[in-house]
Amino acid sequence: MCAESSPMSAEQAVGLAARLDRWHTAQLPERKQIVAHLLLRPGQWVLDAGCGNGVFLSELARAIGPTGKVVGVDQSAPLLNLAQKKIADLPYSHLVELKEADLYHLPFPAATFDLVWIASTLHGQDQPLAVLQELKRVARPGGQVVALDTDYTRRIFLPLEPALEQRVQTALLRAIEVENPAHDIFLGRRLLGLFQETGFERCGQHIYTVARTAPLRPLEQAHIHDFINPQLEKAAPYLDQADRLELYELFSPQSPRYMLVRPEFHYLELLVIAFGISPFTPDAPA
Ligand SMILES: C[S@@+](CC[C@H](N)C(=O)[O-])C[C@H]1O[C@@H](n2cnc3c(N)ncnc32)[C@H](O)[C@@H]1O
Repeated sequence: MCAESSPMSAEQAVGLAARLDRWHTAQLPERKQIVAHLLLRPGQWVLDAGCGNGVFLSELARAIGPTGKVVGVDQSAPLLNLAQKKIADLPYSHLVELKEADLYHLPFPAATFDLVWIASTLHGQDQPLAVLQELKRVARPGGQVVALDTDYTRRIFLPLEPALEQRVQTALLRAIEVENPAHDIFLGRRLLGLFQETGFERCGQHIYTVARTAPLRPLEQAHIHDFINPQLEKAAPYLDQADRLELYELFSPQSPRYMLVRPEFHYLELLVIAFGISPFTPDAPA
């Protein structure tokens, strides 16, 4: 799942929003914990950069209510419409403002936000460093920028045979090199370094583990299916016929060997959270 470079149709937005909702809901306990660890306080101003259909908006608004403000920005008008609908009936919806904007050129003065949050969006950028620099610009000095992202090699499906898993990873890497070098699905491992390179102070990282064991809830199964199938499609041209057949049998819901319903199935995903403090500079307003 990644950012789209060409404008998204309303239909594509509905499809992406459904996948984002399943992903978010399947990991709700961990994601609520992550938002709680942001230590937001009432009255603060928060930017949700690349807010998509708004899966984080309500948690963020609850944390800064009743006097703060959450601004969600995204380049996709159809996703913003869905975000608007999602928050419409929530008690804190009046604290949320949505804006169509590009992450490389945000329409806010320097030093506007106490916290800038960017989730699952940096890995789809051609220039993640330039985006982080722009996020640093709009964070107030002493304010935080926090990014959540993942690294696809940190999503592990067990008991998949380790050699097969490695061949899939190698094929995936090859597919990405050939087809889409800008789309860095291994960004999670570089996130902390990017924060340091951007010039944040007191950079750090937390890793949250999402672990699920059979029997999966239907929603968890749907999320894992959403994730794994496009990856296998991408990897397929770089795998041999025997591996393709084996993977088809393991990951097709109609197959008697379908892995996701096996009693010994388990799944791990590491969510990487990197953060840094926007520095005080002589010309920045305090
Ligand atoms: C994978 S989605 C993540 C959405 C949301 N943060 C979440 O966690 O569900 C990435 C989002 O970033 C937005 N996006 C990507 N590049 C962008 C850019 N340059 N400017 C603004 N939004 C962008 C996309 O439209 C999409 O909504």
